[in-house]
Amino acid sequence: MPVYPATPETIAEAGRFLAQGGPVAFPTETVYGLGADATNDLAVAAIFSAKGRPTFNPLIVHVPALALAEKYGVFDDRARRLAAAFWPGPFTMVVRKTEGCTISDLATAGLDTIALRVPAHPIAHALMMAARKPIAAPSANRSGHVSPTTAGHVDADLGHVLHMILDGGPTEVGLESTVVDVTGTIVRLLRPGAVTTDEIAAVIGGPVKGVSAAVGAQPTSPGQLVSHYAPRARVRLDAREPRDGEAFIAFGDGPMIGPHVINLSPRGNLLEAAAQLFSALRTLDATGAATIAVMPIPEQGLGLAINDRLRRAAVRSDGR
Ligand code: TXA
Ligand code: MG
Repeated sequence: MPVYPATPETIAEAGRFLAQGGPVAFPTETVYGLGADATNDLAVAAIFSAKGRPTFNPLIVHVPALALAEKYGVFDDRARRLAAAFWPGPFTMVVRKTEGCTISDLATAGLDTIALRVPAHPIAHALMMAARKPIAAPSANRSGHVSPTTAGHVDADLGHVLHMILDGGPTEVGLESTVVDVTGTIVRLLRPGAVTTDEIAAVIGGPVKGVSAAVGAQPTSPGQLVSHYAPRARVRLDAREPRDGEAFIAFGDGPMIGPHVINLSPRGNLLEAAAQLFSALRTLDATGAATIAVMPIPEQGLGLAINDRLRRAAVRSDGR
């Protein structure tokens, strides 16, 4: 049984395990989260693997205080006022990443923005202090299932793949945090939650753009809520090797041909490939190559999410 009542000892152990790259399920005031070191690509890949997520949507990065949030995200006056009003609490802000932000590209799905939250739960806080890492954490349920509000829910969904679930009793809010985008002139609601638009509007002294009907209708597929990082380069799938001038993403024992080639995992490990995916796309995009050719990735396990991401990149770059 991976469920441990949260005590100073089990929290310390969970913190060590997390700092070494392991996933830990823990309570927040909203729902239970499945946490991993947000600066470690492989640890973040393990979250997607455990959840059986079909897509790589960006995750919320949890930190113990605004001062730490400012290490990873750029906060203007308005964002600081929102933090002062709603942190710690069920409130997540999407802001621009800082220069040299050390958060995993997989956690932010390759975006230039990052979702940050300071949770109010004492166990979440103690875990962050023990791990001394920012914690990327989606809700701790299998993909497509409802969010867990007890350790038992987490155990039923993910107990077979997790080493540690910290039990802190039922969560108070029971609904995921409110997510707002504060990167633009107008604050936009991306996901409704316990903090309401009226409360947000009162703090900023101006209007909040509501969540659109199409977005609100898709609560089980949060990946569709945001536009993902789109490479500038065209993406050509199912390539066995690069053509002249193409950058190349290889996998397994694929050929290391051409001036710009990255192998996602020479030993053909999908977890490793997932961890590398977004930084590989970014790096090859930055070479200025017109096309990034990509080898076929096995359509199984995390390969499903990798291929989903690659197909979207290919469609987008065809001009659709
Ligand atoms: O209450 C919660 O927020 C829970 C607990 C564990 O903290 N976490 C949670 O995480 O619900 P998750 O991964 O299931 O939801 C993250 C939401 C998604 O809707 C995602 O699209 C959005 O935040 N998001 C994350 N990063 C984003 C970004 N850079 N831009 C826009 N939206 C982003
Ligand atoms: Mg969720």
